[in-house]
Amino acid sequence: MQPHLKRAFTLLAIAIIGFIAVRALIVPDSFGQNGWYRGDSVFELRNFPVKHAEPVSCGEEDCHKTIYSIWSSAGHKTVNCETCHGPSQEHVNNVRIMPPPANDSRDFCGLCHFKRAARPSGFPQIDPETHGENLKCAYCHNPHKPWFV
Ligand code: HEC
Ligand code: HEC
Ligand code: HEC
Repeated sequence: MQPHLKRAFTLLAIAIIGFIAVRALIVPDSFGQNGWYRGDSVFELRNFPVKHAEPVSCGEEDCHKTIYSIWSSAGHKTVNCETCHGPSQEHVNNVRIMPPPANDSRDFCGLCHFKRAARPSGFPQIDPETHGENLKCAYCHNPHKPWFV
């Protein structure tokens, strides 16, 4: 064989062996167990703590039944309790652990309600400069039944 071909083949062989060796070292053991991903990731994802409960768990007997029934028949029934109150599964498991306080700032309600040209015109929107005299929205609106002014 020509010497330059020998050198080329040797380099190629080294590259292939190197690739196989490095691959064996860095590919996790469970890769390919169930498909083209790391099999262990299924268990890792499953073991993540659950942070959000469902609104129905807030509405159970001896809990926030009244707020739940007001909320579920009012304008905010499509806005999950935890959108405003934060993740509350821990609180559902143990009522002594309080969820974070609800965000009651004007800017928070404004995330959905400040006037934006891109929003559907039928969606209730207000101009923050002129609406509500710069008071907190909950001063006039009950967040659980927003038309209760
Ligand atoms: C749009 C946001 C929003 C949603 C949705 C919402 N809340 Fe509230 N919630 C608030 C705010 C803001 C306060 C504080 C009220 C105030 O300052 O008058 C509050 C107060 C409370 C309080 C303590 C005061 C009280 O009246 O006893 C409880 C309990 C509560 N919410 C439960 C719930 C439950 C249960 C749901 C779902 C069924 C829910 N909230 C949905 C914003 C919200
Ligand atoms: C995550 C988005 C979101 C947030 C945050 C939010 N709202 Fe709403 N709001 C909605 C939706 C959705 C509706 C129902 C709109 C519809 O009926 O077309 C609504 C409806 C309303 C209405 C009209 C009610 C009716 O019966 O037509 C008022 C008033 C209102 N919200 C006030 C507030 C106030 C005050 C806050 C803050 C405490 C707030 N909203 C926070 C999404 C939001
Ligand atoms: C001083 C009392 C007061 C405060 C504070 C207040 N509102 Fe209102 N809001 C009203 C009244 C009264 C109406 C009904 C008449 C109107 O449309 O102005 C209303 C109507 C609305 C509507 C329905 C508008 C529509 O055209 O369907 C939305 C949405 C709303 N408010 C959101 C908010 C948000 C968000 C805040 C806080 C940034 C807020 N309001 C603060 C008194 C208030």
